[in-house]
Amino acid sequence: MADTRDVREEIRSRVDILEVISEHVTLKRVGRNYMGLCPFHTEKTPSFSVSQEYQAYHCFGCGEHGDVFSFVMKVDGLTFPEALEKLAKRAGVDISRLQTQQFSQKDQLVRINALAASYYRELLRRVQTPMSYLKERGFADETIQEFRLGYAAPAWDGLTSFLTKKGINPADAARAGLLIKSERGDGYYDRFRNRIMFPILDIHEQVIGFGGRALSNEDQPKYLNSPETPLFNKTRALYGLHLARKKIAEADQAIVVEGYTDAIACHQAGFRNCVATLGTSLTREHISILSRFTKHIVLAYDADSAGVTAALRAASMFEEAGCDVRIARLPGGDDPDSMLTKGLTAEFAAAISQALPIVDYQLVTLIEKSDTTTPEGRADMLKAATRILAGIPSQIEREKYIRALARYHPNFETGTTKAEDHLRKDIDLIARRHQRNHIRDTSSAKQTTRRTALEKAELSILRALIRGEASATNITQELRPEDFSTEITKSAAEIVYGELEQKGTVSLTSLLENARDEVGQLLASITMQEEWEPITEKFLSGCVALVKRSKAKRLRTSDVLSPYRKGEILDIEEMLKKQGQRQMEQYLRETGKLPPVGEQEE
Ligand code: CTP
Ligand code: MN
Repeated sequence: MADTRDVREEIRSRVDILEVISEHVTLKRVGRNYMGLCPFHTEKTPSFSVSQEYQAYHCFGCGEHGDVFSFVMKVDGLTFPEALEKLAKRAGVDISRLQTQQFSQKDQLVRINALAASYYRELLRRVQTPMSYLKERGFADETIQEFRLGYAAPAWDGLTSFLTKKGINPADAARAGLLIKSERGDGYYDRFRNRIMFPILDIHEQVIGFGGRALSNEDQPKYLNSPETPLFNKTRALYGLHLARKKIAEADQAIVVEGYTDAIACHQAGFRNCVATLGTSLTREHISILSRFTKHIVLAYDADSAGVTAALRAASMFEEAGCDVRIARLPGGDDPDSMLTKGLTAEFAAAISQALPIVDYQLVTLIEKSDTTTPEGRADMLKAATRILAGIPSQIEREKYIRALARYHPNFETGTTKAEDHLRKDIDLIARRHQRNHIRDTSSAKQTTRRTALEKAELSILRALIRGEASATNITQELRPEDFSTEITKSAAEIVYGELEQKGTVSLTSLLENARDEVGQLLASITMQEEWEPITEKFLSGCVALVKRSKAKRLRTSDVLSPYRKGEILDIEEMLKKQGQRQMEQYLRETGKLPPVGEQEE
C-alpha cells in the first residue's frame, strides 16, 4: 500500500509551488527567485522568497519556510491531511488508497462546535433568566439571532449528555474545548456552566470557539473562553469579522473594540464595520488579517487607563505595519457598549469620526489631565509633551505640534517665535539622545547577527553542496558533519550529507522534511539567498581549511588536551596549520597525546 510519503512526492512533482503561492502573494522575479510580501507577517518591503528551482519558500524577515504543503497548511489553516487532500485534487492524484479517517479531525471539531452552538441557542430560547439579562442589556432579538447567542445551563452534564446522544465521542468534544475530562478519569463534564454563550465564528462562518459570560458579577471569571484547539487561536481570531468584513472593505475602515458586547452593541447601532479582539492584546496576526480588508483603523477601547495603554500599544503596532490608525476618545468610564446602550449613538459616531492620530491623542489627553492654569502645571505638561514629540521622526510633523504647544510656554508672552525656539531646542536635545541610543542598539544588534568567518565558511560549504556547486565527494571526504562548529550547522550538515550519501544529490524539500525548525530555516535561507558571493573551488577549499582549523582549535582547548603542557600544544598548533584534522588526531595518537582509538572512554 502506498504511504503518505510517496503520495506527497508525487503531488509535489505535479504541483508548481510558484502557481500555488501566486494565488496568495504577488510575486516578482528577482534573479533566480521570486519575491513578494510575506503572507505570514506584516511587512512593507518584500522579503518573502519563492524558488521554483527548489520548490520551496523562505521569508528572510520572519523565517517561515517550507514546501508547497506547509504553505497551504499555514495560509489556509489546514492540517496536513487536509492540505494533502487539497493539493491532490489540484494535481489530479488519487489518494483514496490512503486511510481517510485522519483527514477530518478539524471537520469533526467544527461539527461538534456547531452542535454545541445550536444546543446553547435552544436553551437560551427556553430559559427566562439569561434572556432577560440580554434584554436588560439592550440586545434586540435580531441581534441575539445574528450573533447566534446562547446559554449554558448550570448543570455539569447538559452538553455532555446532549452530545453523547448525538453520537459524539466525548474525547472529541473535549478536544474541541467544550468538555473537560474528570480528574478521576471516569468521565467528562461541561466546561461552560450558567453562562451566556458567544459563539466565535471564522470568516467561513464556522464556529471555532466560544466565549462565555457569567450572569452575575459574583461569578468569576467574568468571561470564560474556549481553550486553544486545532481550530481556535485567540491570537488570530477577531470576533464579528464574518459579519463585518464586507462593511469593512466597503467603508475602507475598521473599528476595533475590546469586548464581545462592544462589538455586538456597535453592530446593533449600525456600526457594522466593527470587530473585537478576544481579551488578548492585539497581535501581528490580527493586523495582518485585518489589513487584507482595510488599512484604516479606528480603535475604540475603554477610556480607563488600561484601555488607553492598550490602545496606544495597538496603535503603534498598526502604524508600524503601515496602517493609518486613529484612537477614539470615549467619555471616562465608558466603553462602546455602555455608550450605545445609554443611547449616546451620536456621541459615539462623533468619537469615531473625530478619532485622533497617535501623537494628537497623546497630547490632547496630556493637556486634558494637566492643570494648565498654573505656570508649574504648564511646565510639567510641556516637559511631558517634549518627550512625546521627540519620538516623531519627521521634523515637519514636529513643527505642527510645536506651533500648537507654544502658547503654553512661559516665553509666549514675549513672542511666539521665542517660545517655539525653546521648545524646538528641548525636543532636539531629547531626540538626539534617542538617536544615539538607537544607533548603539542597532549596531550591537548587527554585531550579533553578523556572521563570523567560520559561520560563513560552514554555510558556504552547505550551500555549495545543496546547490550542487561543488564536487561533493571531495568535501564529504575531507570534512565530516561533526567538524562543523555549532549544533545547528552540525545537524544541517548531517542531513545534507545523509541525502548526498543516499541519493547522490540533494533536494531542498526533502531536507526540509527531515530538519528541525531552526535547522530548516537555516537550510532554506542559505539555499535561497540571492546576494551571495559566487563560490569558487578555491574559495571553497579555503572554507574547508578554516572549518578544520577551528575544529582543531576547539579540540585543543577541550578536556582531552587540557592536561598537556603549553609547549606541546603550541607545536601541535604549528602542525595543524599544515595538516588536516584527521592527520592531527593521528599525530596526537602516535605521540601518545591522545589515547589510541577504542580506549577513549576512561
Ligand atoms: N475578557 C476575558 N476574560 C475575562 C475578562 C475579559 O476573556 N475574565 C475579554 C472578553 O473578550 C471581554 C473583553 O476581554 O469581552 C473585554 O473585557 P471587559 O471590558 O472587562 O468586558 P466587557 O466587554 O465590557 O464585558 P461586559 O460589558 O459584559 O462587562
Ligand atoms: Mn462592557
